[in-house]
Amino acid sequence: KKVVLAYSGGVDTSVCIPYLMNEWGVEEVITLAADLGQGDELEPIRKKALDSGASVSLVADGTETFVKEYGFPAIQANALYENRYPLSTALARPLIAKLLVEAAEKYGADAIAHGCTGKGNDQVRFDVAIGALNPNIKILAPAREWGFSREQTIEYGEKYGIPAPVKKKSPYSLDRNLLGMAIEAGVLEDPYAEPPEDIYQMTKAIADTPNEPEYVDIGFEKGCPVSLNGEALQPVALITQLNQMTGNHGIGRIDMIENRLVGIKSREIYETPALLVLIQAHRDLESLTLTADVTQYKRGIEQTYSQLVYNGLWFSPLKGALDGFITNTQERVTGTVRVKLFKGSATIVGRKSDNSLYSLDWATYGEEDVFDHKAAEGFIYVWGLPTRLWSQQTRG
Ligand code: ARG
Ligand code: SIN
Repeated sequence: KKVVLAYSGGVDTSVCIPYLMNEWGVEEVITLAADLGQGDELEPIRKKALDSGASVSLVADGTETFVKEYGFPAIQANALYENRYPLSTALARPLIAKLLVEAAEKYGADAIAHGCTGKGNDQVRFDVAIGALNPNIKILAPAREWGFSREQTIEYGEKYGIPAPVKKKSPYSLDRNLLGMAIEAGVLEDPYAEPPEDIYQMTKAIADTPNEPEYVDIGFEKGCPVSLNGEALQPVALITQLNQMTGNHGIGRIDMIENRLVGIKSREIYETPALLVLIQAHRDLESLTLTADVTQYKRGIEQTYSQLVYNGLWFSPLKGALDGFITNTQERVTGTVRVKLFKGSATIVGRKSDNSLYSLDWATYGEEDVFDHKAAEGFIYVWGLPTRLWSQQTRG
């Protein structure tokens, strides 16, 4: 039996290698580490898998695909789970699943393994995405079954030559990629406890941010960000620069109690500096370029879309149908949004577009006004008719 294992270089996924071979009779473990811009050095991770017993150790560079095919569609969808979390972790899972399935097919593996626990969302996202992409591949999740505590995991690994983590491991559970960082566990498990400043990696504390505001002009084309301050940028470069710029002003921190698909509430801290600002700016540009009914109808689509992505249904027929709607709406969402970055907040201060539906002649209170004020009377007469009839009836 041959297995492709999702590999991060951490203790848990490393221990999965000997565990699969010695407890579950797997003959060959091929590891795959996905680079999604998390900033880890991948060569040591690649070696560590081999040292831990993998027969082949793959590293897949998925950063550009991640931003272009997962991040940008989420921006077009203004995707915020429970109106707050821009899904930075959730968006990465279907891509990792896709890379795993491709490797499994290439190497003729019978199964895919991952190190997720049984009470998170990530296991759902992996399992559902893998099943959607290739329903014939078996899924193995050792950490869902072994019942080890952290100490037992380390002890088990040491038996097979996997070194215990050198530095005292951070008490937090972290997940990072180019779009953001998710932080949970440790003292954060008390929802009343303020997060310690040292957990943050992508954003500065307000006390350390510049005392002068900074402006950034974000250019969009068909709903995708394409430039910063007039400079055209490739997707990865754009996100990298904007993370830097907005994180420097302390923008992008989220502290929330979140409802997981598996039914529990968890306290989550996120840092998603660029992604949050891009969604805010994109939504603003839509308000200038989309009609009222499309904008309003899209809000409902966006909520459903965010739930689907959070709940692991990236590769599903409903998600595909919503993509069709969203892509169609983005045709004219091209223009520039000016954002002011200062002391932890991003404020939209201007927007412009060649496709703008805002018309000064119609909006102005000045003498250029072309609005026929008398036409309003007949409109209001008809518009208010149902409520007048209702009033007559119920007043008795
Ligand atoms: N709760 C967040 C989500 O569902 C973050 C998960 C973080 N994952 C992790 N393995 N630490 O997207
Ligand atoms: C896990 O339990 O594997 C991480 C948290 C999550 O998936 O939500």
